[in-house]
Parts: sequence; C-alpha cells; structure tokens
Amino acid sequence: MPCTLTPITPAIGSTVTIDKASLLDPDVIAELKVALEERGVLVFPRLNASDTEQLALTDAMGGMVNFTRAVPGSDATTPGVYKITLDRKLNSEPDYVLGTFFWHIDGVTIDQPVPKATLLAARALSESGGATEFANLYAAYDGLSEADKRAYEDLRVIHTIEAAVRPVHGVPTPERVARYRAMAAVMEQPLVWTHESGRKSLLLGTHADGIVGMPGAHGRALLTRLQQWAAQPAFVYRHDWTVGDLVVWDNQGLMHRVVPYTDQGRVMHRTAIAGHESPGRPAAEADFERIYQIA
Ligand code: OGA
Ligand code: MN
Repeated sequence: MPCTLTPITPAIGSTVTIDKASLLDPDVIAELKVALEERGVLVFPRLNASDTEQLALTDAMGGMVNFTRAVPGSDATTPGVYKITLDRKLNSEPDYVLGTFFWHIDGVTIDQPVPKATLLAARALSESGGATEFANLYAAYDGLSEADKRAYEDLRVIHTIEAAVRPVHGVPTPERVARYRAMAAVMEQPLVWTHESGRKSLLLGTHADGIVGMPGAHGRALLTRLQQWAAQPAFVYRHDWTVGDLVVWDNQGLMHRVVPYTDQGRVMHRTAIAGHESPGRPAAEADFERIYQIA
C-alpha cells in the first residue's frame, strides 16, 4: 500500500504516510484529492519535499496558481513559491505575513476563483508560537440549527484586504489603501457557499468586513459570532510543526491562522492550487459604503 491515511480528529485532518517516490503516482493523487475533500487537512510528516517536489505535487493535484504575484517580496527566487517569514531578507514586507495570525481564507479578496488548496512546508521553525490552526467551515455550517441555516442562506458578505490587515495596522493610511486597491478587490461573497459538489460551508475570515444591507456593527457582530462558532475545538485541528512537514489544506472549506511568533528564523514555503469556483463578485460601491455606516 503506497499511501496510508489515518484520521486525526473526527471532524478534520488525516495523516498521510507515503514514500516520496510514490507521491505523483496517478492513483495516489486521486486518493489524495478525495481525502482532501473529505478530511480538509492532509499532513505529510517530515516529507522533506524540495521546492521542485512541492511544485510538482501542487501541479499534479490541480495546477499551481500564484495569487501573491503583486505582493512585494514575493517569489523572488522560485516563481510560485511564496516565503511566509518575518525575515526581511526573504520577504521585504511582512504585513501580509502578520495577517496570518488571524483566521482567514487565502485569496478571498482577489477577483478570481478562490484557490482550491494551499500547501505549506516547514523549512525552519520559531522558538515559540508558530503552530498552524485549521477550522472546518463545512462542519461549522452543518452544525448550525435549521433556523440559522435558513436565516443565513441568502446573506452576502463584503470582504476587504483592509479588514484582513486591520489587526496588523489599525487604520491604514490613504497611500496604503491605494496600494491595496491596486493589488486586491473589494469582493462580495455569499455567507453560505454552496460548492459544485453540493456541500455547503461558511465563508468566513478576518477579511469579512460587513454584511450587505446591514449597518456595519450588525454585520460585523454576526460575522464575529460565526467566526467564534466555527473556531470551536471540535472543528479545529492544530498542527505543531516539525521541520520537513508538508501540510495541504482545502482552502475553500477551511479557515486557518498561525499562533503568533516573533522569531525571524521561521520560514515556511507556500504554494497554492488553482480553484475554478467563484462564489463571489466585486462588491457594488453602495453596498461597500453601507458597511461603514453605523445605523
Ligand atoms: C499561509 C498561512 C500560516 C503559517 O501560508 O497562507 O496562513 O503557519 N500560513 O505560516
Ligand atoms: Mn494563509
């Protein structure tokens, strides 16, 4: 058996035991894709994949997408591989990296299909902090009462990069906002994402900045409550890294964050698999303005 999958918790995560030489075997790839859909997170302990091997797995599982091309400091040495690190020599602008301390989905504020999955490989760890947490947003939806499911079914949410980095910067300067506009869109996404598979998940994260048609506080209060609901321990897997680990997660059905660290030595190599489902669209100006009104 070239590939053994072992569940980590009932709701989320499987460990994959595999010989690196079998990784690109078409039967293995097919099995991994099914497991990713069912389990949300696949952990390959101490796989020690090189960038080339990580990119090959990324391509085999659905094709690489580079959604951080516009982010400063990205992809300097290996195209498609983004360095998640506070080391300024490797990543000149760590704002976006600091944003990973807060629950998020990758690529939600870009007007393109939501990336299908993210692959993260641990190259060097921090002295403290640095574990990565994943919350299953399918389980969060499934666990709602029928009344709540009905109440949320048609809600639309405005996602902004400002909201994603608000915990990092507080109120951004006008220059910074102009730069955000150049690299990201204000997106309107459904609160409940009905995937092509027919499954439903909540689409949440720190980038969720308000609900269409609701005054700002009302929308944000509901989003905060739902984020807390989705982050309950039963829906979460927390990965404590060992150097060489590779973790792949379903970026469309999970949100993730990292336990804060200050250590500039931590280096993770990230690649992403292209999605083809676009649940959202650029937000209408009036809806965007409404979420900044208080009544
Ligand atoms: C990411 C991310 C978390 C981490 O790479 O998109 O959120 O643990 N990383 O570095
Ligand atoms: Mn991320």
